[in-house]
Amino acid sequence: MEPHPAMEWTASKPPLDGVSIEPLSDATLEGARAVWNDFVRRSNKRFLFGCCPACDESARQFARPFEADPSRLRTAAVAVRRADGNVIGAVVCTTHGQMRTEEERSVAPDPKPGASHVEWIAVLPEARGGGIGAALLTHAFSAVKQDPWNARSIDLGVVGGNRAKRLYERLGFERVGPNDPIEKCIAGCVICFFMGCPNRDPCAGFTYSDMVKAL
Ligand SMILES: CC(C)(COP(=O)(O)OP(=O)(O)OC[C@H]1O[C@@H](n2cnc3c(N)ncnc32)[C@H](O)[C@@H]1OP(=O)(O)O)[C@@H](O)C(=O)NCCC(=O)NCCS
Repeated sequence: MEPHPAMEWTASKPPLDGVSIEPLSDATLEGARAVWNDFVRRSNKRFLFGCCPACDESARQFARPFEADPSRLRTAAVAVRRADGNVIGAVVCTTHGQMRTEEERSVAPDPKPGASHVEWIAVLPEARGGGIGAALLTHAFSAVKQDPWNARSIDLGVVGGNRAKRLYERLGFERVGPNDPIEKCIAGCVICFFMGCPNRDPCAGFTYSDMVKAL
């Protein structure tokens, strides 16, 4: 049988050097929060034309969803640099039946039975391009497939112009929407207003994609 293109690509990347991928835990929560805050600060840098920089999420606020539903630690993962124990990347996924915050629900609906969702993924800028993002997602695919969730699909949303879309395609995600022109236009306008137009291309904001992968 032909290997899946995503597997070929993953295999052709150099092995992760000195980095371990592990489920999120109380010990790595603070590191994951630092990765999250770095991601938000950078992607929100043009928020309201730079007049209103994003605030860091407090430790208490970041920990809340994991305290409310500790099973969420198992569907999240971190990349830890073995040399110093620092967290350099993280992914947070949810499955049908897990508790999600109002904020998460306002961005994407709760996963249906058998489905799961990537809430966010980020790798620190200096560690990008070395396969950590792919390894985090691959770990998440196995996690959401486990009992009691048994997810058979995973979905996510990505803004036009984000190079991350290429990574998702390589790992087998396919674009499924939005297809409705009004929905597309609203998503594009909202994103351009809050985040600026990705790659300085005003049309790129209108290519916001919902993507899904069968597990
Ligand atoms: C997307 C992201 C998690 C990928 O992590 P990574 O460790 O660089 O991923 P990998 O090394 O496994 O794969 C590299 C691929 O990631 C994507 N990528 C996105 N931004 C990248 C960057 N700044 N540097 C390198 N790769 C990047 C590309 O598809 C790249 O492949 P390419 O070089 O052929 O274009 C990481 O780039 C990141 O944190 N980006 C900012 C946060 C973000 O956009 N999150 C996704 C929101 S939907």
